[in-house]
Amino acid sequence: MKKKIAIANWKMNLNLKETKNLTVEILDGLEKIEFKNTEIVFCPSFLALKDVGEIIKKYTKRYKWPIYLGAQDVFWEEKGAYTGEVSPLTLREIGVNFVILGHSERRIYLKEDDEMVHKKTRIALFHHLIPILCVGETLEEREDGRRDLILIKQVSYGLEGIKLGKDDKFIVAYEPVWAIGSGQAVEPKELEHAIFIIKQRLVDLFGLDLVEKNFRLIYGGSVDSSNIKEFIDRKIDGFLIGAASLKAKEFIEIIKLLS
Ligand code: PGA
Repeated sequence: MKKKIAIANWKMNLNLKETKNLTVEILDGLEKIEFKNTEIVFCPSFLALKDVGEIIKKYTKRYKWPIYLGAQDVFWEEKGAYTGEVSPLTLREIGVNFVILGHSERRIYLKEDDEMVHKKTRIALFHHLIPILCVGETLEEREDGRRDLILIKQVSYGLEGIKLGKDDKFIVAYEPVWAIGSGQAVEPKELEHAIFIIKQRLVDLFGLDLVEKNFRLIYGGSVDSSNIKEFIDRKIDGFLIGAASLKAKEFIEIIKLLS
């Protein structure tokens, strides 16, 4: 059985001091957890990655916990004249293992399109950063009955033409845009359907064996400790958690429920 993964996406919510305090507070609260079925990824802002990485290292050395560092984005080139961008090489250098790609906030505010997401996916895999590819429909697309089409399109553009080796791990996060930060999570039945659609497309692209072994399909959008139980048994391999991961007690509770 695949371990459930809980990915904390802290977005641009915390300053450096708050980020370090939150990391320590969460890790201190995990002492009694056995981590048989769970892994955690912290995704702080770029500038906090190094500090958070050092804190994680201290704890994982002592407890052998499966806790990793993730970035919220990466650029599609290794180096060059790309003002303001962050290279996958630098992320690797500071111990990053995962990277969120194509988050709807970037698609909306930074005008990231499917082609950019594809290039980022490619370079992430090349540098052994595990992609967390976010896909999901807007409210309008959902109401127009275009959800499945959007999911198929985003998965296809993100991954078509990419070759995955037998050791390449990959995460696809179903993140309906209307559910993010709205307090309104998706209905479990609808989630099962969306995951089925995503999986089918992945199977078309990579074959069942690779999809079962190397992919994890997760959910994100207003997940918290009060609704996560509804989703745990719905063929979901984990969660991408925004607001609820900013409160130590809440996030620890989520990890307890997953473990
Ligand atoms: P949320 O964010 O949990 O605050 O809805 C999820 C995400 O954007 O990944």
